[in-house]
Amino acid sequence: MGWRPMSSSTRDQIQNEIRSLPKDAQYNAPAAVLDKVGRNIYQIPSHPLGIIRSKIFGHFRQHYGETFEFVEGLSPIVSVSQNFDVLNFEANHPGRSPIDTYYFNSQQLLRTHTSAHQVDLLRSGKEAFLCVGDVYRRDTVDATHYPVFHQMEGVRVFPGGNDLDSERDLKQCLEMLVDDIFGKVEKRWIDAYFPFTHPSWELEIFYQNEWLEVLGCGVVHPAIMEAGGVSIEKGNSAWAFGLGLERLAMVLFGIPDIRLFWTEDERFTSQFKEDTITTFKPFSKHPACYKDIAFFLEDEHSFAENDFHELVRTIGGDLVESVTLVDNFVHPTTQKKSLCYRINYRSMSRNLTNEEIDRLQQAVRAALPTALPHVTLR
Ligand code: PHE
Repeated sequence: MGWRPMSSSTRDQIQNEIRSLPKDAQYNAPAAVLDKVGRNIYQIPSHPLGIIRSKIFGHFRQHYGETFEFVEGLSPIVSVSQNFDVLNFEANHPGRSPIDTYYFNSQQLLRTHTSAHQVDLLRSGKEAFLCVGDVYRRDTVDATHYPVFHQMEGVRVFPGGNDLDSERDLKQCLEMLVDDIFGKVEKRWIDAYFPFTHPSWELEIFYQNEWLEVLGCGVVHPAIMEAGGVSIEKGNSAWAFGLGLERLAMVLFGIPDIRLFWTEDERFTSQFKEDTITTFKPFSKHPACYKDIAFFLEDEHSFAENDFHELVRTIGGDLVESVTLVDNFVHPTTQKKSLCYRINYRSMSRNLTNEEIDRLQQAVRAALPTALPHVTLR
């Protein structure tokens, strides 16, 4: 029962494991992303993510006693089977693509969700658990997307229960949870689709004048029950949910930019206290500077927007605040499509010099032809 924080030696172990993993042509994880593995910022008690995690754990302890086991510190390096196959993802599901997912090789990847552990945890005999971890997705660059974020997975089996019991308990459990976190709020259940639950829903709450999606959930699919060693013949049923910790923390603490979760700037870290939700006080926002970059697509179908975003992030790191498409046209004679992206550079802790930004922009331009062979700079 309970959880063990990951020690720094465990971080070294994971980093060593990453170095020794076999890499093949699928390998697409950049150093800056790999560097985050094992940091486990969600285990820092005074970090906004740690505060949210503890609040949710506390909620479950208070209402369910020892029913739910808390699981943390599982390695984010998982197999294609764990992340996709056993969860019933169809063979051509876009999530499997290296455009969306970081691979080490054709068999091993950085988990894209904590659901990757559902089956193993069921197999180990647990009937109810909460599992927290860092998850990784290739994505666009903006204030709410970062290649690493955190999820909490919840699963509960009802031995001898039926799916209606599961649905009722799931909805009641999650409504109680969001009321505890957000104060009494208006909620709505939206039908959703996940390959590993059926039926599936998303829960939205009305908070600060807008509908906010807080989690995905559903009744665990029979194929996952079987894979987890929970016989469905005996009439067993189970529910599962997954929620994103950053999303919750950004609205509850008023944190405007997802990069802040990773900063070691004391003006950020010193603001938060264990077990306490406080509103983030922005420290002076440093000026932003944008640069545009335009290119023709020689072959429209071999261009994936995520690849461009990642190239920019790989070179600019956390100095890149956002990348947005600002213009898009087809050349009248060549019929080639042209895209123009605006890269917004801003540091969260200091002023950037023009020279520094020019150097970054030059580096992006220089790297583009090799990184994206099917484009031509304008
Ligand atoms: N894993 C899903 C996601 O990342 C969320 C989810 C978890 C949905 C468990 C249903 C059940 O979007």
